[in-house]
Amino acid sequence: MNLIHKIFGMPDQASSAGAVIDPLWNFITGMAVVFFLIVAIGSLAFMVIFRARKGDQRLTSGNAHNTALELFWTIIPTILIVIIFAWGFRGYMFLSVPPGKAMNIQVIAFQWGWRFIYPDGFSSNDLVVPENTKVKLTMSSQDVIHSLYIPDFRVKMDVLPNRYTELWFEPTKTGQFDLYCAEYCGTSHATMNRIVDVKSFDEFETWRNEQLAGPGGDLTAYGESLYRELGCLACHTLEGSAGQCPDLRNIVGEEAVFTDGTAAMVDDNYLRESILEPNAKIVRGYENVNMPTFKGVVTEQQLTALIMYLHKLSSEPESVDGESGDEAGEDLGGDAGLKGPPDDPESDD
Ligand code: CUA
Repeated sequence: MNLIHKIFGMPDQASSAGAVIDPLWNFITGMAVVFFLIVAIGSLAFMVIFRARKGDQRLTSGNAHNTALELFWTIIPTILIVIIFAWGFRGYMFLSVPPGKAMNIQVIAFQWGWRFIYPDGFSSNDLVVPENTKVKLTMSSQDVIHSLYIPDFRVKMDVLPNRYTELWFEPTKTGQFDLYCAEYCGTSHATMNRIVDVKSFDEFETWRNEQLAGPGGDLTAYGESLYRELGCLACHTLEGSAGQCPDLRNIVGEEAVFTDGTAAMVDDNYLRESILEPNAKIVRGYENVNMPTFKGVVTEQQLTALIMYLHKLSSEPESVDGESGDEAGEDLGGDAGLKGPPDDPESDD
């Protein structure tokens, strides 16, 4: 029974919605199984019992109606459907009316990640909530339609641009649970698979105080974690080959050449502008890359941390894969990331 539940049932209940949703889900699934068996076994039995035998010339009875039978197969399903409707409506109301007193967390979805902004102003990219607390999410999207889905909590809601949608839950168990984007939203859709970390109330307070204190003195390390959390890494990879987006290693102090033929030295203000208004200056060779803006997504402190991390990326020795800029010479695209993709013959003049 346990194995059957594991294969066909829902994941373990980790929120108060489980007790409301699961009985109905089990009822509908159970009913579907029972009716499937009735129809399938009935069909097989009738095939055997009433099959045409050799020389069998019996006529059918000619009965077109059986009132009792027709009432039976009309009334029973109607009752079942009314039960499902009433039961489902109860669950729907439970899920769609957030409780008056709840912890409010703002959610910004973007390609490709989540920003969970807490009442105190700090934010995280995984959802962290205290146990046995009603939590309400107010969600909107910065770009396309996403959908926030937490199977263990039995909640799911689309996250739309230009509009707020709401969702609430009350976690009943500590631990880490899967959080998905359930709406295909582009190439790195899968990087929106994150976790919900349900902490005990004391642990949550400790975490909250850590967040309030900020990342300590190490802004560069904070910038590095942001670089991952915000999804920069999905496109601006830090591997040997240039990805779809400009390589961000060893760019500070170099010259960037733009689509309109102008050029500028990469300094802090250029980096700042590129994060907040990515389309202001587009590096030549990357005309078709549509980077999302991070205006309103990152705080001033986070912006500084990111820029400090980009500085760090420019002070590290180049990778040892043999295409070091010094050796290759400037004409061979040692700084390919800034001047265009390495395979673009026009990237260097
Ligand atoms: Cu966001 Cu899929």
